[in-house]
Amino acid sequence: MVKIDLSNRLAVVTGASGELGRAMVRVLGEAGADVAVHYHRNAAQAEKLRDELTALGRRAVAVQADVTRLDSVLAMRDAIAGALGEPDIIVNNSVIQYQWTHVLDQAPEDYEGQFRSCVLHNVFMAKAFVPAMIRRKWGRVIAISTECAMQNVPNQSAYVSGKRGMDGVLRVLAREVGEHGITVNQVAPGWTASENRPDGDLHESYRQRVPLRRRGKDRDIAHAVAFLASDLAGFITGVYLPVCGGNVMPAI
Ligand SMILES: NC(=O)c1ccc[n+]([C@@H]2O[C@H](COP(=O)([O-])OP(=O)(O)OC[C@H]3O[C@@H](n4cnc5c(N)ncnc54)[C@H](OP(=O)(O)O)[C@@H]3O)[C@@H](O)[C@H]2O)c1
Repeated sequence: MVKIDLSNRLAVVTGASGELGRAMVRVLGEAGADVAVHYHRNAAQAEKLRDELTALGRRAVAVQADVTRLDSVLAMRDAIAGALGEPDIIVNNSVIQYQWTHVLDQAPEDYEGQFRSCVLHNVFMAKAFVPAMIRRKWGRVIAISTECAMQNVPNQSAYVSGKRGMDGVLRVLAREVGEHGITVNQVAPGWTASENRPDGDLHESYRQRVPLRRRGKDRDIAHAVAFLASDLAGFITGVYLPVCGGNVMPAI
């Protein structure tokens, strides 16, 4: 039987305290991985997830970092190394949330925040964790993008520019580290239903535009992450994988 088996793998998920990150931690743990559960401010949520994983029989630790600062990401790496070891899988999922508006009204600081939480976040995670993957000749870098990166919808310029910027970093990185058995891929969710942001009537016009006629669920995203983390996806790299029911379809 072919199945996703992440036993004896260690993952770190940034933004694990957030909506989609929680499902990623749970699914990675269900697939057998030990997980470093990252948070920025919500320690209680990360500690709850850590306890869930421990109850499943996994090794887990809650770790704090500001992913927009290299010193903070390096300190997180050292904390994970002390508690669990060197991660095989990194999932770069954190994002800074802010109010979306027109280019003419969006504050320059919002663009800087998106640059830091999308582009530099991915750069810092690579600097912190990829060298150990190179030594072990195996690794998975998985970054969470968005369908918005392909849509160019009004009000989303800061978000789209941050996500498109990180796409550039990640595709170059994929070429740079492929020879070491490391894959680098992006999962791009659509507008996804999750624990604290459930599906509702407000989303009907969106659902009608989606070819599969529903919103994704948090676990739909997490399943794609678990697949890309596994040996089954060992020949896939440099990919931007939409998980949005067909709402965006990158052309070949
Ligand atoms: N939800 C969707 O429908 C959707 C759709 C498309 C793409 N996405 C993408 O999916 C990812 C997760 O989104 P989400 O909706 O789950 O987000 P969310 O619930 O708002 O969670 C954001 C996460 O980022 C962390 N964070 C914020 N600022 C940080 C910083 N400076 N340093 C480190 N961590 C920081 C937060 O930590 P604390 O809470 O601990 O402070 C939280 O865990 C994002 O990359 C987003 O762009 C989401």
